[in-house]
Amino acid sequence: MNRLRLGVNIDHVATVRNARGEGYPDPVRAAEVAVAAGADGITAHLREDRRHISDADIDALAVITRRRGRPLNLEMAVTMEMEGVALAHLPHAACLVPERREEVTTEGGLDVAGGHNTIAPVARRLSEAGIRVSCFIDADPEQVIAAKAVGAQVVELHTGAYCQAVREHSPDAPQILERLRAAATQAASLGLEVHAGHGIDFETVKAIAAIPEVAELNIGHFLIGEAIFTGLGPAIQRMRALMDEARAGRAA
Ligand code: PXP
Repeated sequence: MNRLRLGVNIDHVATVRNARGEGYPDPVRAAEVAVAAGADGITAHLREDRRHISDADIDALAVITRRRGRPLNLEMAVTMEMEGVALAHLPHAACLVPERREEVTTEGGLDVAGGHNTIAPVARRLSEAGIRVSCFIDADPEQVIAAKAVGAQVVELHTGAYCQAVREHSPDAPQILERLRAAATQAASLGLEVHAGHGIDFETVKAIAAIPEVAELNIGHFLIGEAIFTGLGPAIQRMRALMDEARAGRAA
């Protein structure tokens, strides 16, 4: 089985910084620590309302990820403004996400099937610029097919519902995990690279990491929270160890 990559999302370092309007903690420093701790890539979401990551952060993250030889994964809404940001910075990957102003976080996957005519030209222009295009979708067969149809190279499966079900001890958790597994198999059979993310913590990571088609996990909020207690480097190293255990067949 291939080694599973870990992308560390540093958005919520910026959330803490912005809560006081100071220059610290610095998400760029967090990216440096993450890389030193073994992160395979850095993920950041530039939201329309700039509630956490700023344009200046993206400028700096593009520079340091290039310098450190790690991919930058820019999470972005499908808008002309964000397309302009992506084309100006040429990140390794752009993950297309839905965005609603009033949401606390990205609540569901992108409706790629319903938005084909809007998404396909953006995906094409990003791809033509050499950016790997990923669609953040729910584990829904129709959305997997739609992601392929818009020309994405990658799908990132939304794991939020599974992680929440586990935390709430819901009897639905195994069935939701089964849907993630099926979507991963379907996407891989269409030649799409499979990523997964949202809401992943130390408890939920192993079952997701054990899905053989998944090539990359993107994890943020839990790691930044855990960093308060253990430091960011150790939190990332523990997540990495759990991922490796799952891949070695010692899944939860
Ligand atoms: N992947 C995508 C596409 C996301 O939008 C997010 C949240 O920004 C994540 C992964 C990371 O989720 P979390 O912060 O809950 O780990």
